[in-house]
Amino acid sequence: MAVPKPEELKNLRESFRAKKQTCFILGASGETGKELLAEILREPIFSTVTLIGRRKLDLEESLHTPVKQEVVDFEKLDEFSAAFQGHDVGFCCLGTTKAKAGDDGFVRVDHDYVLHSAELAKAGGCRHFVLQSTKGADASSSFLYLRVKGKVENRIKAVGFDRYSIFRPAVLLCDRRESRPGEWVARKVLGAIAYVCPTFYSVPTVTVARAMANDVVMPGRDNQKVEILENADIHALGNVK
Ligand SMILES: NC(=O)c1ccc[n+]([C@@H]2O[C@H](COP(=O)([O-])OP(=O)(O)OC[C@H]3O[C@@H](n4cnc5c(N)ncnc54)[C@H](OP(=O)(O)O)[C@@H]3O)[C@@H](O)[C@H]2O)c1
Repeated sequence: MAVPKPEELKNLRESFRAKKQTCFILGASGETGKELLAEILREPIFSTVTLIGRRKLDLEESLHTPVKQEVVDFEKLDEFSAAFQGHDVGFCCLGTTKAKAGDDGFVRVDHDYVLHSAELAKAGGCRHFVLQSTKGADASSSFLYLRVKGKVENRIKAVGFDRYSIFRPAVLLCDRRESRPGEWVARKVLGAIAYVCPTFYSVPTVTVARAMANDVVMPGRDNQKVEILENADIHALGNVK
């Protein structure tokens, strides 16, 4: 994957900013989503950012970019189609866990809500959809988590965005607010391994967020409508400032 040099990135950001595009973020209250919002406000590249979620967030006022909030009921998403109207770019960092929601609840959020949102965004004029999936996503996997992630990746391909970026991070490193004991242990071990081999098993959420923001200002790669960023690609792109 071609990664811009800092000077090139600066120019790309400036020409992108001049286009005055708008975006929405799904999952901005989550660990990656909040970093993405912070990144987009720190390096303003959009004229407006809309957060679409099930609750309103307490935010500090942004100096450069107006932030709108749309509270929706994901179970009745068609009634909230207006929230998805008129955005150029859509970021999706939505997701739950089987531990939290059970198997059915996990499928409902990570597949149904995500796909339905993508469909409404496309109908509303969105051209570039950016999905946070996972390392190992595979529609034919015997593991529910990886299978659901692979299926939703594929179904969104069929939605037909002009450009579709699939991010496949490994274990996310962050100081998670929510208690997830299994992930906590994994993060401690992987955080140590990351000193030796930073790109293999894990990636900080700030790096994922920066890679997403950097990706959208770059032209699509090799005229490909669908681009997949594996964990090493995310590290490479997310480490350019
Ligand atoms: N954890 C990992 O190591 C890992 C690794 C690779 C990929 N991923 C994937 O990366 C994505 C983002 O992960 P993350 O850890 O940054 O997310 P997170 O902190 O768990 O946040 C998830 C977001 O989804 C929203 N959400 C969850 N359940 C919902 C529901 N029933 N209805 C509406 N909104 C709901 C949350 O809203 P509220 O704040 O309102 O709950 C929050 O904004 C997920 O798809 C995850 O599967 C995770």
